[in-house]
Amino acid sequence: MELFEAISARHSMRSFTDEPVPRQVMERLISAASLAPSALNEQPWAFHVTTGETRKRLSEVMSHGTHHLEEFLALLGHTATIEQLEWYSELGGAPVVVACSIPRTDDEFLLMNKYLSVGGAIENMLLAATDLGLGACAVTFSYWVRDEIGTLLEVPRDRIIVSMIAIGYPTDQPTVAPVHRMDTAVYLD
Ligand SMILES: Cc1cc2nc3c(=O)[nH]c(=O)nc-3n(C[C@H](O)[C@H](O)[C@H](O)COP(=O)(O)O)c2cc1C
Repeated sequence: MELFEAISARHSMRSFTDEPVPRQVMERLISAASLAPSALNEQPWAFHVTTGETRKRLSEVMSHGTHHLEEFLALLGHTATIEQLEWYSELGGAPVVVACSIPRTDDEFLLMNKYLSVGGAIENMLLAATDLGLGACAVTFSYWVRDEIGTLLEVPRDRIIVSMIAIGYPTDQPTVAPVHRMDTAVYLD
């Protein structure tokens, strides 16, 4: 798939078949993410790839976080529905969920660089997933249970989970393909 085609075709997918994603395919996604630019070439990301039993246990941990759903959705001006509660605990039945971590730091500038860098890596992974016919969705709702997830996945204590990525073969097109604003730049001569 041509790059701009992949950029246009990528949409967040939230419902997956139970077809497993082959290990070689996951390795390609991780390679794409690993090729992202990063501040000072720090490459602050680590990807904790869960399938099988660990993936199931991750759902249990995520479901502990759903009592924070009201708080999260209130920020966006919404109220929780059964579908949303299911989505955040089951993550659409995704056979693979990748947890992304970065090193902890109290320094605001360093933290900004780490967040920006891992964001680029996540986008590379989402675009590569699109190219390979997979669906994916980044999920930061994991925020409320990030420490529990870190414990489950044996993430070193000096790192923090910043996002999950649900990955699998999509059941369908996204139910709502959101409109993206195109008036986002100011050109200053
Ligand atoms: C940093 C980040 C965090 C996100 N967190 C969530 C989330 O917690 N739950 C969710 O359903 N979608 C989440 N998304 C997906 C966005 O809702 C989605 O990208 C946005 O609605 C635009 O839709 P599109 O990806 O289909 O273009 C997240 C996306 C990003 C980039």
